[in-house]
Amino acid sequence: MTTTGDQSLWLSALPGQSRPQLTGTHTFDVAVAGGGITGLTTALLLKRRGLRVVVLEADRIASGASGNNTAKVTALQSTVYSTLVCTHDVATATDYASASRAAVDQVADLVQHEEIACDLRRGAAATYAYTEDEVQTVEEEFQHARKAGLPVRLDTDLDLPFEVHAAVRLDDQLTLHPVKYLHGLAAAIDGDGSKVYEHSRVLDVTGHKLTTADGEVHFDRLVLATHYPLLDRGLFFPRLKTPRSYAIAARLDGPPPSALAISAGSPSWSISAHGDQLIVCGQGHETGKPAQEPYRRLEEFARRHWPVTEVTHRWSAQDPTAYDHLPMIGSYTPGASTIFTATGYMKWGLTSGTFAASVLADLVTGKPNELAERFSPHRLSLKSLPELVKKNAEVAVEMVGDRVVPADATNSDRLPPDHAHVIRDGLGKTGVYRDPEGQLHAVSMRCTHLGCFVRFNSAERSWDCPCHGSRFDVDGNVLEGPATKPLPRRDPK
Ligand SMILES: Cc1cc2nc3c(=O)[nH]c(=O)nc-3n(C[C@H](O)[C@H](O)[C@H](O)COP(=O)(O)OP(=O)(O)OC[C@H]3O[C@@H](n4cnc5c(N)ncnc54)[C@H](O)[C@@H]3O)c2cc1C
Ligand code: FES
Repeated sequence: MTTTGDQSLWLSALPGQSRPQLTGTHTFDVAVAGGGITGLTTALLLKRRGLRVVVLEADRIASGASGNNTAKVTALQSTVYSTLVCTHDVATATDYASASRAAVDQVADLVQHEEIACDLRRGAAATYAYTEDEVQTVEEEFQHARKAGLPVRLDTDLDLPFEVHAAVRLDDQLTLHPVKYLHGLAAAIDGDGSKVYEHSRVLDVTGHKLTTADGEVHFDRLVLATHYPLLDRGLFFPRLKTPRSYAIAARLDGPPPSALAISAGSPSWSISAHGDQLIVCGQGHETGKPAQEPYRRLEEFARRHWPVTEVTHRWSAQDPTAYDHLPMIGSYTPGASTIFTATGYMKWGLTSGTFAASVLADLVTGKPNELAERFSPHRLSLKSLPELVKKNAEVAVEMVGDRVVPADATNSDRLPPDHAHVIRDGLGKTGVYRDPEGQLHAVSMRCTHLGCFVRFNSAERSWDCPCHGSRFDVDGNVLEGPATKPLPRRDPK
C-alpha cells in the first residue's frame, strides 16, 4: 500500500472480496505486472486486440498511486506546458497535449463502452494564481498551452471562495472515482482467456517466465506496470525523482467547488471535489526530505476558505518524475525487447498512464506508434543533463557519507511516544521509533536498494529514502520500491 496514514477517500470504497491469487503454472500471450491505471488499461487494450492477457497485482487492484490521487483526468496539468517548452520544445509540448486530450476522451469512452459506474463528472480544469506573484506563471502557462494546441482561455470565474488573481482554464475535462474505474477495467479484462489476480507479487523474471510466491506464468511479452519499474535492469532509478504529496477529504456545510483547480506557485494548492466532499492536496516534497506537518496545513487551508464540518480522509502518495519531465514509455531495454514499461507521470498519470497504455499496446503488438520515439525511455535529453548530473551527485553523497544523518542520541531512554530519532551504536546508524503505546521499533538506516540513509517521515510514520524513493515501515518492511528487501531490524536497546 502507498499510504501508512489513513486510507484515501477512494480506497475506502475498495470491494471487500479480493480477486484470486495466482497458483500453479499458466501460459498467456502477455503478462502485465501491476494493477494500476497503466497495467489495467494496457491489459484491456491488448485483450481487445485478441490477446490472452494476465494481470498480476501484488496487493489489491488500485492500491498503488492509482487509488491515492485527486482523480482529475485532464490535459491541463498545472504548469506542465511551460516546463515542457522550457526543457524540450513546442513540438514536444504539442505531442504531450494531443496525447493527453486523446487520453481524456479514451477514459470517457472506456467508461461508456464497458458501462463502468465510477461517478464520472465533466468539469473545467484550471491552473490559478493564488497570490499575485503567481500571475505571470499562469499567463505563461496560458501561452504555452495554447501553442501546444489546447483550447484554453483566461478566466478567473472558477467557483472558488477566494480571490483568484489569474487562471488558465480548459473546459470539458473529467473527474471520476479511480478505484471504481479500475475495478471496472479489471472486470472487463477477466474472461475469454484473460485473467486478473490480486495478492500475486511478481518476484522474478527469467526469460519468458515469471514467478510469484505460489505460481508461475509463461508469456510471450511482459509489461511492467509497477509504477517504479520492477527489476531495474533498465537503470531507470538514476533518471527518476520521486516527489511525495498529501491530501485530505472534508465534508462541508454547503456545496463543494466544481472546478478541478491547482495553483501555479509553491506551495501548490490542488482543489477538487467528489460528491459532497472537498479534496485539497499539496505540501509536496521529495521523498526522504522532511514533511512540514502537511495534514495540519491542508486542513488549515480548507478551513480558511470553506465551512468544513469534518475531515474524513487523509492520505499521501508519490509519483516518479523523469529528469527531463516527460513520461518514459516503451521497451525496457534499448532495442528489440519482449519487456515493456511506463513510468514518470509527474502526478498526472490518470491521463498519461492512459495514453501510455495506447503506446504500449501498439509496441507489444508490433504496430507503429507515432509517439513511441518521443516517450522512449532511452531518449537522451541534452537540455536536462545538468539536472541529471546534479541529482546523481546528491545521491552519491547520500551513499558514501554517513555524516548526512547525524546521530541524535546514544540511547532511546528519553525518546517520547510517537517520535523517532537516530542513534549511533556498534553497527552504525540505527533509526528508532517509539510508538504511542511506548514500544520501541529499531531498524538499520541503510536503504536496502543501494545503501543511502533513510529519513523518518513523521506524517506517515515511515522511513523514506531520499535517493530513489523507497519507503519502509517502522519495522523495516518495504512500503514502496525500488527496494525489495526490508531494512534489517536492530535491537532497540
Ligand atoms: C498525491 C497525488 C495526487 C495525484 N493526483 C492525480 C490526479 O488528480 N490526476 C492524475 O492524472 N494523476 C494524479 N496523480 C498521479 C497518478 O495517481 C499516478 O501517476 C498513476 O496512478 C500511476 O499509475 P501506475 O499504474 O503507473 O502505478 P500504480 O497505480 O502505483 O500501480 C502500480 C501497481 O503495481 C503493483 N506492484 C508493484 N510491484 C509489483 C510486483 N512486483 N508485482 C505485481 N504488482 C506490483 C502495485 O501494488 C500497484 O498497485 C497523483 C499522484 C499523487 C502522488
Ligand atoms: S538507495 Fe535507492 S531507494 Fe534507497
